[in-house]
Amino acid sequence: MSSVVSYRRVGRVGVITVDYPPVNAVGVGVRNGLRSALDAGLADAGADILLLTAAGRTFMAGADIKEFGKPSQPPILPEVIAAFDASAKPIVAAIHGTALGGGLEVALACHFRVALRSAKLGLPEVKLGLLPGAGGTQRLPRLIGPAKALDMILSGDPVTAATALELGLIDTVDDGDSALDAGLRLAERALAEGWAPRPTSARTDKITNIDPDLFAGYRATLAKRARHLFSPHRCVDAVEAAVALPFADGVARERELFFACMESPQRAGLIHSFFAEREVAKIPGLPADTPKRDVRSVAVIGAGTMGGGIAMCFANAGFPVQLLDTAAEALERGVQAIRRNYEASAKKGKLTDAQVESRMALIRPTLSYDDLADADLVIEAAFENMEIKRRIFAELDRVCKPGAILATNTSTLDVNAIAAATCRPQDVVGMHFFSPANVMRLLENVRGAQTADDVLATVMDLARRIGKVGVLVGVCYGFVGNRILHQRGRESMALVEEGASPQQADRVLTEFGFPLGHFAMTDLAGIDVGWRIREERRKSGDPDAQAVNWLDALAEQGRYGQKTSAGIYRYEPGSRVAIPDPAVDALISADRAKRGLVPRDVSDDEIRDRCLYAMVNEAAKILDEGIAARPVDVDAIWLHGYGFPAHRGGLLFWADQVGLPVIAKAIDGYHARFGGSHWELSPLLRRLAQEGRGFRDL
Ligand code: 3HC
Repeated sequence: MSSVVSYRRVGRVGVITVDYPPVNAVGVGVRNGLRSALDAGLADAGADILLLTAAGRTFMAGADIKEFGKPSQPPILPEVIAAFDASAKPIVAAIHGTALGGGLEVALACHFRVALRSAKLGLPEVKLGLLPGAGGTQRLPRLIGPAKALDMILSGDPVTAATALELGLIDTVDDGDSALDAGLRLAERALAEGWAPRPTSARTDKITNIDPDLFAGYRATLAKRARHLFSPHRCVDAVEAAVALPFADGVARERELFFACMESPQRAGLIHSFFAEREVAKIPGLPADTPKRDVRSVAVIGAGTMGGGIAMCFANAGFPVQLLDTAAEALERGVQAIRRNYEASAKKGKLTDAQVESRMALIRPTLSYDDLADADLVIEAAFENMEIKRRIFAELDRVCKPGAILATNTSTLDVNAIAAATCRPQDVVGMHFFSPANVMRLLENVRGAQTADDVLATVMDLARRIGKVGVLVGVCYGFVGNRILHQRGRESMALVEEGASPQQADRVLTEFGFPLGHFAMTDLAGIDVGWRIREERRKSGDPDAQAVNWLDALAEQGRYGQKTSAGIYRYEPGSRVAIPDPAVDALISADRAKRGLVPRDVSDDEIRDRCLYAMVNEAAKILDEGIAARPVDVDAIWLHGYGFPAHRGGLLFWADQVGLPVIAKAIDGYHARFGGSHWELSPLLRRLAQEGRGFRDL
C-alpha cells in the first residue's frame, strides 16, 4: 500500500485515508495510492461500502500544482476519478478543511458526500489560469445545474458546507469535529438503508432543458469583465459541453480545453503569483524557527484614515487595539469613521451586526500615552513628518514595556532615524500598510539597520495572522513599491508632456491589465497628497524637487481628484466613473506651450514600454542595493499593493517573459534619447541581459 494513502476496515466500511501533508495535494503518489486503495476496497469481501477521507488539517486541496508544466506521470487524475465514479460499491466522501480543485473533483465522483460544518468546497482552478480538468466541469453541473456550476467555477471562490448542501453539492452537513466519524455515520446509514452506488456521471436531471441563452449570457459578461483572460472563456465552453454532449465526450472536450489553458502563458503567470505570495514569507537568513515575540495586544497612534484602517486590520483578526490620538475631536472622528466603515460592510451583508459590535468593542480609544504601557506592539501612523515621528518614538520609549515592538507606518521617512529617537533601536521596525489599510493585502515590513531578528520574524508572522502578504524590505526613500511607482508616475507625466493624453496613457495600462491607469489612480489617491509633498520639497530648496507642472495647477484649483469630483478627470457626484475633461486638456496644452514643447503622436507601444521598463530598471537597482532580497519580493509587492495583473505573474516575471536583452536595449535607447539618471541601465539588468539570464536565475 502507498505511504500516502492507506486502506483499512472499520466494521463493514472500507476506509481510504489520504495522508500527504501539508494539504493532501493530489500528486502522483496520492493518485497511485487512491487507485490501489480503491482496488483494495473493491477486493475486500468484508467491505460493503467505502469511505474516502483525509488526515491532517484538510481534505485534498487540489492537484499538486508543483507538477504543472512538467510531463504528467500516470495514472492521470481523470482516470483515477473515473474508477471512483464507476465503483461497484457505494463510496462516501467525508470532507473537512477545504476540498478544492482536483480534491473536490475526487469527491464529486464519490457517490455520497458529507462535510463538516466548517468545511469549504470550491473549484479555484480559474485563479491559476486553468479550468477544473478532472471531470469537474462535467460532474458539478450534473449535481447543481450549469448556472450554479458556472458561478462557482468562474469565481473560483469556495462555498461553505451549508451553501454546498443548499446547492445539492453535498448530501449532508455534520456538526461534529471529525470527518472520519461523520463519514462513518453516513456510511452506516447508507448500509442500513441499502443505498446503491450513484455515479454522478450518469445523472442528467440537472442538465436537461437548459435555456440555450444561458451560455451566451455568461459569454457576454466575460467579454466585459474578463476580456484579457484566457481560462474563464474556456470554462464556459467546458460547462456547455456538459450540457450538449454525452458524458464521455464532455470529459474529452474538457481535457482538450484544460490542456489549452495549461499551455497558456497566463497559467504560468498565475501559478508564479500563487507561489510568490507564499515564498515571500520565507526570509533568506531568517530561519523558520526564529523565536517570535508574543503579541496579544496592539496600539495604533493616529486616528486618521491610515491609523483607523490599521486598527481595523487587527480588530478583524481578534486583537484588542488601543487607538491613540492626542486630539479628542480627531479621536472621536476616527472612531466614528471606523464604525461607519464596519456598518457599510454590514449593509452589504459582509458582517453581521453582532460582528460590528464585537469588533468595535475591541477598539479602545485613548488620549494618553501612559495607557500604552502594556501594549505588545505599537504602530505609529501619525503625520508624515520626521520631527513629529521622532517625538512620538521618544515618548513610546518612555512608556512602553521592555520588549514591546515599536513600528512606524512611514511611507517615505528613514526608519533608522526614527529608531534613533529611542534607546531600543532593535525593537523598532517599519510596517508600511497601503491605503485603505483594512482592504489592501500588501504589508511592507521594513528592516532597520538594528532591527532584531525576532522582531522581523514576529512582524512577518503577524502579517499572515491579519491576512496580509508581508514582504520584508530595506530602508530607502519609498521602499520598494512606491519607489517603483514613482518611476511609472514620472514616465507617465513625461509621456503626457510629449503629446499623449492622460486617457491614452491610462488606457494602455488598463489594457495591460492594471485595474487603473496612473492618472485615474492619482485621482483616487488624491492629487493634493503628492502636491503637498512637492510643495514641501520646493520650499525647502531641494535640488531634486520637480518644477511646478499642470498637476500642481490642478491642485491649486482645488481639483484634488475623486474626493472633489474633479481632478485629472471629472466625476458625477457620488460616481467613480472617470470622464475626460476638456478643461484639463487645455491646461496640459497651455503647460506644453509654456515650456516650448511641441506635442507629437505617442504610440500605445511606446507608452507601455516606457512605463514598464522604467519600473523594471528601478526594480533591478533595488535588488542590486539589497533593498528587496529577491525578484519574487518585488513581484509580490506589485501584485498585492498596486494591482499588477496576476496573469502576468509579477513585474519581474513579466520582464523575463519579454526578455531582458530586449528591455536592456530599449533602456539604453531611452537613455541616449532622453538622458537622466533614471534611464541609466541598472548594472544588474545589464549583466543578466549580457549573460542571457533572467531574474528567475538569481
Ligand atoms: N499543490 C501543491 N502545493 C500546495 C497546494 C497544491 N494544490 N496547495 C497548497 N500547497 C502548498 C503551499 O505552496 C504551501 O507550501 P509551503 O509551506 O512550502 O509554502 C503549503 O502547501 C501550505 O499552503 P498555504 O500556506 O496556502 O496554507 P493555508 O492553510 O493558508 O491554505 C489552502 C491552504 C486553502 C489549501 C491553500 O493552500 C490553497 O488555496 N491551495 C491551492 C488550492 C488550489 O488552487 N487547488 C487547485 C489546484 S489546480 C487543480 O486541482 C487542477 C485539477 O482540476 C486537475
